[in-house]
Amino acid sequence: MITEIGALVGATTAGYLGLKAPNRLRLSLAKHPSLAGHPRLARRVARRLPYYRHAGDAFFGCDGAPPAIVERRRRGFETLAVEAAQRCPRSIAYARSLEASVADAAFINRHRVPFPFRAGVRDALPLASIIEATEGNRVRDADGNWAWDVTGSYGMNVLGHEAYRACLDRGAERARAVGPYLGGYHPVVADNAELLQRLAGLDAVSFHMSGTEAVMQAVRLARYHTGRRRIVRFAGAYHGWWDGVQVGVGSQRPAPDCLTLRDADERSLRMLAKRRDIAAVLVSPLQVLHPNQAAPGDGTLVGARAVSNPDTAAYARWLAQLRSVCTERGIALIFDEVFSGFRIAAGGAQEYFGVAADLVTYGKSLGGGLPVGVLCGRASLMKRYRDDRPADICFARGTFNAHPYVMTCMNEFLLRLDAGDLATSGADSGPWQARVARLNAALTANELPLAAAHIGSVVTLGYTAPSRYNWMFQFYLRAQGLALNWTGTGRLIFSHDYSEADFNAVIDAIVDAGHAMHRDGWWWHPAGQTNRRIGRQITGEMIRARLGREPRAAE
Ligand SMILES: Cc1ncc(COP(=O)(O)O)c(C=O)c1O
Repeated sequence: MITEIGALVGATTAGYLGLKAPNRLRLSLAKHPSLAGHPRLARRVARRLPYYRHAGDAFFGCDGAPPAIVERRRRGFETLAVEAAQRCPRSIAYARSLEASVADAAFINRHRVPFPFRAGVRDALPLASIIEATEGNRVRDADGNWAWDVTGSYGMNVLGHEAYRACLDRGAERARAVGPYLGGYHPVVADNAELLQRLAGLDAVSFHMSGTEAVMQAVRLARYHTGRRRIVRFAGAYHGWWDGVQVGVGSQRPAPDCLTLRDADERSLRMLAKRRDIAAVLVSPLQVLHPNQAAPGDGTLVGARAVSNPDTAAYARWLAQLRSVCTERGIALIFDEVFSGFRIAAGGAQEYFGVAADLVTYGKSLGGGLPVGVLCGRASLMKRYRDDRPADICFARGTFNAHPYVMTCMNEFLLRLDAGDLATSGADSGPWQARVARLNAALTANELPLAAAHIGSVVTLGYTAPSRYNWMFQFYLRAQGLALNWTGTGRLIFSHDYSEADFNAVIDAIVDAGHAMHRDGWWWHPAGQTNRRIGRQITGEMIRARLGREPRAAE
């Protein structure tokens, strides 16, 4: 009897070691070693991070700067504050009042700079983005100041404000007779479906209200048709705020059915090649600009930020391999083109990288200026029911799906696209490559510790000096008349109607801002400063904060 139990235990262990353990090992190897690759751990770390603030001299000299530099920084900061208060008093007052009532405004205003500095910034240099008008590539704030728009409206603005205004005007005219009647289809829907089928090279479409929802539906369909539970996303990628894919910091719900793997890495392919429980792999092609990292924002900019132009050929090869593995294992390959669609090429990343996906999500620009999400897919994956099992369905609805105004505005956008109204052929060639090269040449010629990288019209600014104050640069850019996203300098998004002269004006603004930042001493750093040393310093500050030895006064 004892021998039989022993044999059973032995066989089970051997079975585990033979089957499960290698799988487990392959999964561990495929996970990115950073916190971005370990969402659960990242959440735990985030919960324990203590708040502290740099106050008084520490605000200007937490890197050990000598008194003269501290003074220069203080004076520079005060000048910026005085100028901002004079330039945009109405915007600032308005933005402050919004914070009390608009939760999103309160959130973003607290996440523009690294948290130890945010109280000092909010007190003296509040930021406001209250926009009353747009014209060409510029926006006008509540005080009548015009600024170059490098926000790209979160990536929505590919064609330029004027084009969307025309889409909205004409779309509204065409939908007026129907009004907001929901539950039926405006006749334009068939045309949209056909244009989208052609664009995506896929069989069927569904309409949703946001990119987030299009992703939700893609994942739900993949699970329905494969009968599998797990999905894979890649470290750092954003696929909207649904907690089935937005795992880790920012979302409270554990999502054990969503695995986060290394982007553009052989180890992820090896892991996928051995699994039979993966329903779908989600790819956000824009990640090629910063694989395995979240979009670079100034709220977490605590040292140097290295950037380089993406190796798009290598990424295309990796995507092709991923395509093969997915085909072999019956995994649905989802391209999340909510951002990259229409921007990096008219046919999005599928066209740009030459790889076909099974399901593709679109959003942002596609609504012609209105909120939208669209899923395109192979017929076999898009079907929401089974002919032979009538109660086995894949449910998805939405009150405002296919809203007549959204459909007519989308049609205006798609017609422009169809007519070739989009200068996106070969995104990193053509004008953007030359423009970003010109920007980099200007930065080098002016000996500024800055560098830019890009994919098409999405540009990221890097910092070559490991200063603890690189995040300050956003304020100098704003003072020079650039309207930035709330996340700051990590993502400058240009619309495709930027002329050479417009882009040159932006280069001039960046260079002038760089000189001012340098003059005010923010790029001073102690000899031998590195990101690693900064990291150790910050860890020390956190330990002292936990022990109650750093100022923690409430904001
Ligand atoms: C790649 C990607 N997927 C999904 C989304 C979510 O789209 P939405 O904000 O419309 O919900 C975004 C938004 O930025 C995105 O960039």
